[in-house]
Formats: sequence, structure tokens, C-alpha cells
Amino acid sequence: MTPVVQTIAVSNRKGGTGKTTVAVNLAAEFAAAGRRVLLVDLDSQSHCAVGLGVKVARGAPTVHDLFRAGAATLESSVRATAYPFLSLAPGDPLFEHGSGFRDQGLLSQALAEPAITDAFDLVILDTPPSLDILLLNALRAAHGVIVPYVPHPLSLEGVKQLMRVLFMIKSGENPDLKIYGLLPVMVAEHIREHRAITGEIEHQFGAPKVLAGIRTDIKLAESFGTGQPIRIYAPKSRAAEDFAALGRTLAGVCEGRAYQ
Ligand SMILES: Nc1ncnc2c1ncn2[C@@H]1O[C@H](COP(=O)(O)OP(=O)(O)OP(=O)(O)O)[C@@H](O)[C@H]1O
Ligand SMILES: [Mg+2]
Repeated sequence: MTPVVQTIAVSNRKGGTGKTTVAVNLAAEFAAAGRRVLLVDLDSQSHCAVGLGVKVARGAPTVHDLFRAGAATLESSVRATAYPFLSLAPGDPLFEHGSGFRDQGLLSQALAEPAITDAFDLVILDTPPSLDILLLNALRAAHGVIVPYVPHPLSLEGVKQLMRVLFMIKSGENPDLKIYGLLPVMVAEHIREHRAITGEIEHQFGAPKVLAGIRTDIKLAESFGTGQPIRIYAPKSRAAEDFAALGRTLAGVCEGRAYQ
């Protein structure tokens, strides 16, 4: 089933590569630009709720109910945040990755429900750092993928592994899936190693696929702890500047105005 609402997955098989930070802050950028955004937290670490200051009571509906019930119940988990146009389908800390229904199409079916297509212009999927049925659901449901990576020698292998999964999905379940970009995060431009790794990634996957990065900024970690996107917590910070630029670039990519 082709997704109806523009859907972007933020994925990397490696842990701690800034996926959740990117998903939350990018969602906030698009919402601030007036797009009705649904952030879906497919990771049972459930950190998106923390980053947006949303309290989820134990037993409250979550996106993971889809995988427990095998039915489209996404709408019941959707809740407003303190930020205009930004809603969250939270993850469930009690969901065991590897359990539940094995159907790769559950999420795309749920996102095609009128309750979602009528209410939102854009869906952003935060994904777990593993190759499991939740990641496969995300890649099946997405129009495009953003792959955040830390420019470190170990990252190259993680990016290559994910690219192999993306090509597998493109040649089967979701032929229209686009790679919207590889995104260096926690970048320190003066570190030669960072430039070398990004140079290697450009060489392997094509320079136009590498997006302008998000620089290292402790304010990102601080803002997460306060439940505020960086654009609210520290609007003049370099991370806020980088996320604003990323939002503008991706708005162009989503509309087909830039390289896909
Ligand atoms: N640009 C940045 N500058 C400084 N710290 C950052 C930056 N991006 C992310 N971080 C920090 O790095 C840590 C990991 O980030 P995050 O949780 O977003 O990664 P993740 O890929 O979602 O992790 P996981 O694989 O566990 O889901 C967090 O403490 C976050 O605050
Ligand atoms: Mg995460």
C-alpha cells in the first residue's frame, strides 16, 4: 500500500547516532512552518515523549499496540503536544522488540486510515536501532529515509548495513522509497577524522546524498531533558541554526525540488 501522508523515517541500525534527536527536532521544524506533523515513536525506549515533554501514563495507548493487536489502532494513541501542529504517537516502554505480529504492512495500513490522512500533512518515524519488524514496517511505510550518522570510523559499517536493507526494501516491498539523505550529526568540523569519514561516505554513496550536518552542541542534550525542541529551548544556538537549515532543505527534498 502506498503511503498517503508524506512519511519520513529516521533510521540507522547503529545505536546512539542521533536518530531520536533528529526526529524530534525535525518534527518541531516542520510543525513551526505550519505543517500538521505526527511524530511516531517506534522505539520502545520511548524517548520522543521525553524530548517533547509528554507524560505517558502506564497502560495508555501507544503505537506499539498496532503490533500487539495486529490491527490499525494508531489514532487512539495520538496525543497533542505543547507545540502547535505537532502531535505524538508515543512508544511503549513495556513492548518487547521481537514480540508481536510479524506483518510488515501494519504501519502503512494504519497511516492510510482517514483519521490520520485527514489530520496530518507529514509523518516522521523514529525507529529502533535494530533490524526488526518495526524498522521494516517503517521502511515499508516511508516515502523517504534520513540516515543520521556520527562521523566516526565505526559508523561507516552501520551506514553500509542500513543501505543494504534500504536497497532490499526498494527492490521488494517499497520500490518508491527514496533516500532523502545521509546526515552527519555531532559534527566537529575541526576534527580531521570527521571530514575524512564524511568524505568516504560521499565517495561511496554520492556527495549530493550527504546533507549539511548538525554540529555538536551540548544544548541539544539539555533541551531534550527539559522536554523542549532546540528551536524553543535555545533558538540562537548552533544546533537550532542547523536544524532550521535541515528543515528548509528537506522541505525542498520532500517536494521533489532537490536531489532524491
Ligand atoms: N548534535 C549533537 N550534539 C551533541 N549531542 C548530541 C547531538 N545529537 C545527539 N546528541 C546526544 O547523543 C545522544 C544519543 O542521541 P539520540 O538518543 O538522539 O540517538 P539515537 O540514535 O536515537 O539512540 P538510540 O539508538 O539509542 O535510539 C543523546 O544523549 C543526545 O542528546
Ligand atoms: Mg533513539
